[in-house]
Amino acid sequence: MFKLHYKLERRAIGLTLAIIGAASIGGIVEIAPLFTIDETVEAAPDMRVYTPLELAGRNIYMREGCYACHSQMIRTLKDDVDRYGHYSLAVESKYDHPMLWGSKRTGPDIARLGGKYSDEWHVRHLINPRDVVPVSIMPAYGWLMERTLRMDDLSGQLAAQRAVGVPYTGEMIANAAADAYGQANPDSNASAAVAERYGEATNVRTFDGNAQRLTEMDALVAYLQILGNLVDVNQKTAAAETE
Ligand code: HEC
Repeated sequence: MFKLHYKLERRAIGLTLAIIGAASIGGIVEIAPLFTIDETVEAAPDMRVYTPLELAGRNIYMREGCYACHSQMIRTLKDDVDRYGHYSLAVESKYDHPMLWGSKRTGPDIARLGGKYSDEWHVRHLINPRDVVPVSIMPAYGWLMERTLRMDDLSGQLAAQRAVGVPYTGEMIANAAADAYGQANPDSNASAAVAERYGEATNVRTFDGNAQRLTEMDALVAYLQILGNLVDVNQKTAAAETE
């Protein structure tokens, strides 16, 4: 083995060819899976983008470092599926920039959290986790209830997402702040336009229980309640199986 290397190193062309050969093996291993990318990333025509309020909530989720304890990626392993539900599909992360799959589960995976609890449960849990889960070791995030949501940068946030490929329309970007307000105020004039722009299934309600004020709590709960619900996964797999 050593002798072979010794001889090879003394032949420039032989060494060059050997390097090319070795590098190509590594290249093929990385590139080959991309040949089947069309089959890997399922088409999901019903997949919708995050509303401005949900996107703001997602930013708060990142700011507070929730991803350090929570993953958003259900693996295909039986234990994962039994505990958390249908495994995550590639398409479900399509509009996630950056993705928040996470790699650590101090708390449970929350990829399919949407609809599991009421808004009220989330608010109580975030203010003090021990109120609803006595043994919880999760930190409290009570200040989210006191902090008014910053809205003047929402259009810019949507525009930035569009720059990396998320299909926000000019109308969505222009109305970002109004839509965020409308989504958390079902009685306001702005609320009807949210469903029009983002689909009838969009949650329009007072997430933090207080319609007077748009707080960071509103945004974070709106985000948590949509996790796993941007696409109807069970319907999708049923459709794929009958194809
Ligand atoms: C230090 C680790 C840690 C951090 C940081 C953390 N959590 Fe948790 N989380 C946990 C643990 C542990 C549990 C399980 C006990 C419980 O339900 O409180 C949990 C549970 C949850 C649940 C309930 C999940 C379910 O399916 O029952 C939600 C929702 C949640 N966390 C959201 C958040 C959000 C949002 C943030 C950021 C603002 C956050 N967590 C930050 C550790 C953490």
